[in-house]
Amino acid sequence: MAGQFYVKRLKGMLDPEKFEHSLGVRDTAVRLARINGVDEERAALAGLLHDCARCLPEDRILEMAGRFAIPHTEVEMALPVLLHAPLGAELARREFGVSDQAVLRAISVHTLGDADMAMLDKVVFVADKAEPGRRFSGVEEIRRKMCADLDRALLACYDLSIGFALQNGAPVHPTMIEARNRLVLSGPGRKF
Ligand SMILES: [Fe+2]
Ligand SMILES: [Fe+2]
Repeated sequence: MAGQFYVKRLKGMLDPEKFEHSLGVRDTAVRLARINGVDEERAALAGLLHDCARCLPEDRILEMAGRFAIPHTEVEMALPVLLHAPLGAELARREFGVSDQAVLRAISVHTLGDADMAMLDKVVFVADKAEPGRRFSGVEEIRRKMCADLDRALLACYDLSIGFALQNGAPVHPTMIEARNRLVLSGPGRKF
């Protein structure tokens, strides 16, 4: 499991609420990894560190994203918080010494998803939404689905995020639209 070095260091980078959330995501990711035949160590590490950049102020997120040449569109310029995912992968590499590309990628795509999600990416993405501390409307549906069919749980996550953006008049990131389209179009036996 992800060692105490990571836990201790992460605690110094997050507020208490986000730190607890990270522990919840780690444990949920391990559970989903076990069910889906995914490497549990990788799931634990990616789950633990996925939000390591989440508590940075927006101006710092933008500054660091520029410095590390993290690509961003006008949507991220308007909502810099979205960049905490790819920036988190960068910090996991630089500050935590993580070199496992699969782990870094799962951290990088945990907010918007991607058209080409590996099983580890899906595990971390769904765990982020379903960990025990989450309280939003619809979370129970995700929790029900995730043990039986990770793709269905992932689709429910995309639908909730996109629905939330629409309800609030917020932009929907094209990466998430592409991610959802790929999932819907590639899923066997899906109806639409
Ligand atoms: Fe996040
Ligand atoms: Fe998170």
